[in-house]
Amino acid sequence: MTRLFESTTVNGMRLQNRMIRSATWEGMCDERGHPTQKLIDCYVALARGGVGLIISGYAFVHPLGKQLPGKLGIDSDELAPDFRRLIEAVHVAGGRLAIQLVHAGGQTNSGRIGRQPQAPSAVAVPQFQETPEALDAAGIREIIQSFAAAAARAKAWGADAVQLHGAHGYLINQFLSPLTNRRMDEWGGGIENRCRFLMEVYRSVRAAVGADYPVLIKLNARDNVPGGLELEEAVSAARLLSAAGIDMIEVSSGTPASGMKSPVRKKILRPAQEAYNREAALAIKAAVKCPVALVGGIRSCEVAERTVTEDGLDYVAFARPLIREPGLPRRWESGDRAPSPCVSCNECFTPGLTEGGIYCVTEKKQREKAERKAKKAGQGA
Ligand SMILES: Cc1cc2nc3c(=O)[nH]c(=O)nc-3n(C[C@H](O)[C@H](O)[C@H](O)COP(=O)(O)O)c2cc1C
Repeated sequence: MTRLFESTTVNGMRLQNRMIRSATWEGMCDERGHPTQKLIDCYVALARGGVGLIISGYAFVHPLGKQLPGKLGIDSDELAPDFRRLIEAVHVAGGRLAIQLVHAGGQTNSGRIGRQPQAPSAVAVPQFQETPEALDAAGIREIIQSFAAAAARAKAWGADAVQLHGAHGYLINQFLSPLTNRRMDEWGGGIENRCRFLMEVYRSVRAAVGADYPVLIKLNARDNVPGGLELEEAVSAARLLSAAGIDMIEVSSGTPASGMKSPVRKKILRPAQEAYNREAALAIKAAVKCPVALVGGIRSCEVAERTVTEDGLDYVAFARPLIREPGLPRRWESGDRAPSPCVSCNECFTPGLTEGGIYCVTEKKQREKAERKAKKAGQGA
C-alpha cells in the first residue's frame, strides 16, 4: 500500500485515501439550488470511483452570493429533503461528502441576483463584471451569520464536513486581497484587518458546528493579479486559521482575471507542468500545524504520490481529471497507473452553462469519432 492510498482521519472523518475531489460546480441544480437526480448520479459515480472525499460544487450561503446557473444552494432549510437524499446516496456508495460554502461577493452580476453585487469595496477591477456596492457593517454581519447557518444545515443534513471557499476571488478572498478590499475600517487595511472577515466566518462556523466537526478551507496562496493577495499574506492567513483550529487547508491560486495563471490552468500535458500550486502549498505547509491539500494540474499518479511522500503534503485534490474519469482513484489503486487522460482544455465548463451539467467534451468527441470509425469499418466488412 502506498501513502496515497493510506486511510487517514480528519477531525473524526475517516477517509479511505489521500485523494480529494476538489469543489467543482456541476451546473446540475435547479434555479433555486436544489440538488437534482443528475447531481446525485454524478456524486455516486465519484464515490464508487474511490475518491477519499468529495467536496461539493460551491453552494451559496446567501441569495446575493449566487453566481453561475445550476449552482447548489444552502441558504434555506427548504433545501433539506434533496440535500439529505444526495448525502445519503454518497454514503450508501461508500463516499464522504463535504459541502463547499461560498458567497460570490462582487464576482456575480445584477442579472443573476437581481441587484447590484456587494463586495468589501466599491471598486471596478477586472475580476468583477460590474462595480459592486461596498458592504456596510450590518451587511457583513448578516453574511457571517449566513455562513454559520449554512454550516449548521450541512451538519444537520448529514454532510461529513464543510469547506469555506477562501479562494478564486470570491468574497472571503475579496476581503483578503488589497486589490478588492480598500476599506479603512476594522475590516480593511493591514493583513490582520483583511483577515478579520475570514476569521469571523471561521469562528462563527466553528461555533455552529462544534469542535468535533471538520471545517476545511480552500485558500488562495496568490491571486496572480497585479495588486492582489500575495503568498506572504496568504501564509499569515493560514497561520491564523491553523492556530484557530481549521482542520485542513487546500491550497489554490488565481482569480477569473489571472489569465494564464487562473485557478483552472490550461494545457497541462507534461509532468513538469503539473501541480502548479506546489511551491505555494509547501510554503503554507511549513507555517501551519493542520493538514494541507494541494490542488491544480495534478494528472499523474507519480506526481500525486510524490506530493504526499517526498513533498510531505497531506492530500492531493483533483477537479478536471475526475470529470473525465470518476473512477481514476480506483484505477490507480488497482495498479493501472497511466496518467489522467484529461487534456486541461476547459471545455467542460460549456455544457454546465448550456446543457444542464458539465461533462468531458473531449472524451465525448473522441468516443463519437471512434464510434463513427467503427461503424464505417463495419460497413466496409
Ligand atoms: C467545471 C469546473 C468547475 C469548478 N468549480 C469550482 C467550485 O465550485 N469551487 C472551487 O473552489 N473550485 C472550482 N473549480 C476549480 C477546481 O476545484 C480546481 O481548483 C481547478 O480546476 C484546478 O484543479 P484541476 O487541475 O485538478 O482541475 C472548478 C473547475 C472546473 C473545471
